[in-house]
Amino acid sequence: MMQGMKNLWHSISNKVFCGSVNSRINDLVDHLPYEQLDYDVTKFVVFNQIPGDYLEFGVYEGRGLVRMYKRMLYHWKSYARHAGIYGHEWDPSYWDKMRFIAFDSFEGLPEAHESVDPKHFSKQGIYQMPLCRFQETLRKEKLDLSKVLTVPGWFKESLTDETKKKWNIEKACAIFIDCDLYESGVPVFRFITDLIQDGTVLIIDDFFRYGGHPQRGLQRAYGQWLEQNPQISTSELTRQGANRLAFVCHKD
Ligand SMILES: C[S@@+](CC[C@H](N)C(=O)[O-])C[C@H]1O[C@@H](n2cnc3c(N)ncnc32)[C@H](O)[C@@H]1O
Repeated sequence: MMQGMKNLWHSISNKVFCGSVNSRINDLVDHLPYEQLDYDVTKFVVFNQIPGDYLEFGVYEGRGLVRMYKRMLYHWKSYARHAGIYGHEWDPSYWDKMRFIAFDSFEGLPEAHESVDPKHFSKQGIYQMPLCRFQETLRKEKLDLSKVLTVPGWFKESLTDETKKKWNIEKACAIFIDCDLYESGVPVFRFITDLIQDGTVLIIDDFFRYGGHPQRGLQRAYGQWLEQNPQISTSELTRQGANRLAFVCHKD
């Protein structure tokens, strides 16, 4: 439905507008489904009062994390009003307790071994963004930095039980996996298993890369993780076109 509207808009705007106006409008239309997904996920999390931290694996320069932070805060303010008026149960310290945890090498992608990686993914170091640029984005966007925890390092080294203990990472309200490669996804899925609760939202980017093949990329890592953890099941909450999917997790 959203994709159909997008295509229709592309064809109308191509006829009516030209040059930079047209390309700006098309950028906006491309971007709206991402905004919609962020909106839906954060509303679900806050209105269901799912406790825990927001975790993002692969933050690059921080734009995704900033959007989720702002949306989460927006819904929190609206839910706090709503819950007060309608007498819903709510935890007044919900927002204060939520942290935004950023995991990234800040050195870009590692070397990929999967033979069918599209060319731009197989290049080691692509998406390289120094930690200071990520921090600069957060500062510019005026996030409360005391709510953001950054864990730099390669996932296969940084995603350990020690990291969980050190930073008291016990449960997640939402998890965004945006690290492109199967090899990067495997340690991430292993790390998040015991952070999942009923209602945790799992967002996976590039789900339909590699021609949508279930044995490739993050979709492969996700499938294997579900097989290895039969106590966890998921149902789709929302999606951004053919690229980014959000699932609600259930735990027996
Ligand atoms: C597409 S970018 C993330 C974009 C970001 N989520 C956003 O919405 O703006 C992918 C990121 O994943 C990181 N990454 C990929 N594989 C990694 C690994 N194995 N260990 C650490 N970081 C990794 C890269 O450094 C890069 O910053």
